[in-house]
Amino acid sequence: VKTILITGATDGIGLESAKQLGEQGHRLLLVGRNPAKLDAAAAAVRSAGASSVETLETDFAELASVRKLADQVLSSVDHLDVLVNNAGTVFDKRVVTVDGLEATFAVNHLAGFLLTERLKDLMGASAPSRIVFTSSVGHFQGTMDFDDLGFERGYSIMKGYSRSKLANVLYTRDLAAELAGTGVTVNCLHPGTVATHIWSGAPWFARPVLAVVKRVAMISPEQGGARITYLATGPEVAGVTGGYFDNDRQLAPSAIAQDAAVGRRLTEVSRELVGLA
Ligand SMILES: NC(=O)c1ccc[n+]([C@@H]2O[C@H](COP(=O)([O-])OP(=O)(O)OC[C@H]3O[C@@H](n4cnc5c(N)ncnc54)[C@H](OP(=O)(O)O)[C@@H]3O)[C@@H](O)[C@H]2O)c1
Repeated sequence: VKTILITGATDGIGLESAKQLGEQGHRLLLVGRNPAKLDAAAAAVRSAGASSVETLETDFAELASVRKLADQVLSSVDHLDVLVNNAGTVFDKRVVTVDGLEATFAVNHLAGFLLTERLKDLMGASAPSRIVFTSSVGHFQGTMDFDDLGFERGYSIMKGYSRSKLANVLYTRDLAAELAGTGVTVNCLHPGTVATHIWSGAPWFARPVLAVVKRVAMISPEQGGARITYLATGPEVAGVTGGYFDNDRQLAPSAIAQDAAVGRRLTEVSRELVGLA
């Protein structure tokens, strides 16, 4: 029985993966922002067969809330086999969080970054252990401008999203290098184009087309979730680290994603932004 924490566990691929991991009989710690959805997710994961289920309410748009989550985990768990950083969202218009950060970058990258930095010693003490990030094929469009990380000079939903997903790949690779030889593996994935609620964040004019694409061309949340489950507990990837996976296969991520100097700088800048520097 493994102890597995999964964020964004209340909907979409995170919820489906949590149910699949529950079916495998593990102990699940489910993280979400909505208490009613957390209760429903816990019930579903329990009835799937999880040996135990706990819920942790956290808003990833607030660093204080993520700090509280890390404190709660560190005080209640002495062993963590798998950390799945999956929570993610899109913002049609530029939004600034209570911490003064562009919200896509804050929710999709900085929150998981802060949680992982706070839990990485625990992961080391729990080795062999695994850290997984849900990135996206969208990272191929991503740019990393350290002089304007928050798009004060011009925002679009895709620019914001693809940068945040590029950050997931860069941090995966930088952390994998840092943790090489410790028995902690770090990998990320594109889950496929999945029919989940994330698409309701798209601009209004794209929605009619998306509704059709969702029905005919997207995979189900169960199928997308299975790709997280593969990286979380699949015996095939034991010992594999620093990888970007698509359809359960390791592929080369974008050229910027492979630039170790950019990855190092992102880690340093992120440490400052979340108050760990
Ligand atoms: N769907 C795709 O085609 C696709 C493709 C590539 C990558 N991805 C990635 O897959 C991951 C999961 O997305 P999904 O498609 O499953 O979408 P989803 O159905 O919208 O699920 C997103 C999850 O993240 C949670 N979340 C969002 N904002 C949060 C916040 N501020 N604080 C805490 N939790 C928050 C949501 O909580 P609520 O239940 O409260 O909303 C939900 O549990 C994301 O990282 C996304 O970027 C998806």
